[in-house]
Amino acid sequence: MLRFALLVIVLIVPQQGAVQPSQTGAGNAVAEGPNYTANGELKMPERYREWIFLTSGVDMSYSPNAAMAGHSMFDNVFVNPSAHRAFLETGTWPDKTTLVLEIRGSEGASSINKRGHTQSPEIMGLEVHVKDAKLEGGWGFYEFDGPKSAKVIKRPAGCYECHEGHAAVDTTFVQFYPTLLGLAKSKGTLSAAYLKEMGAAAGSK
Ligand code: HEC
Repeated sequence: MLRFALLVIVLIVPQQGAVQPSQTGAGNAVAEGPNYTANGELKMPERYREWIFLTSGVDMSYSPNAAMAGHSMFDNVFVNPSAHRAFLETGTWPDKTTLVLEIRGSEGASSINKRGHTQSPEIMGLEVHVKDAKLEGGWGFYEFDGPKSAKVIKRPAGCYECHEGHAAVDTTFVQFYPTLLGLAKSKGTLSAAYLKEMGAAAGSK
């Protein structure tokens, strides 16, 4: 009889455990990070607009004499909230960090705006950078074309080269994220590549 009672407990406990995550909200934390399809493609992080906003870059260009196509472009960077909280404590990103770069065009005078630029309602591009220990090099880049899932961009590629060679913290461009740069400095997490670049720039003045 006692043995039967124990068996019943063993059978019930794991099931209760299994339903708990979604009830306690832990399921939301999982939904925040990268979600993959069965064949390993990254699902589009649909709710990134509810994440933490890091910056808007306008007309950024990586070569000094790049010609502008005649109109401005904006990019907006977002990160999932739990990774952002971890960054505030450690100055670097935890595994499963997901960063989104959303690209928009610009609008000129419209409504009460007479000069300057506002962002276009249309999205011109959506790129994602994911930290995941199962990926080669620990990070992967993805480019989305609409809501369908995306394959990881294979190495070698310009994305990895530029981010690994110039980004301030763990292959991410924290030097352009105003609320995070000071923190990374104080935690001592700035990359060797970035420190060398800044040192060289200061030395040439
Ligand atoms: C020549 C350098 C360069 C190349 C090549 C490059 N990026 Fe970036 N990337 C940047 C810079 C600079 C930023 C910061 C943007 C800002 O401050 O608004 C950035 C930011 C990002 C971010 C935001 C998160 C982060 O890592 O800081 C994503 C996502 C991203 N890039 C994706 C890509 C993808 C995908 C490719 C390849 C298809 C790529 N990038 C190629 C320079 C580069």
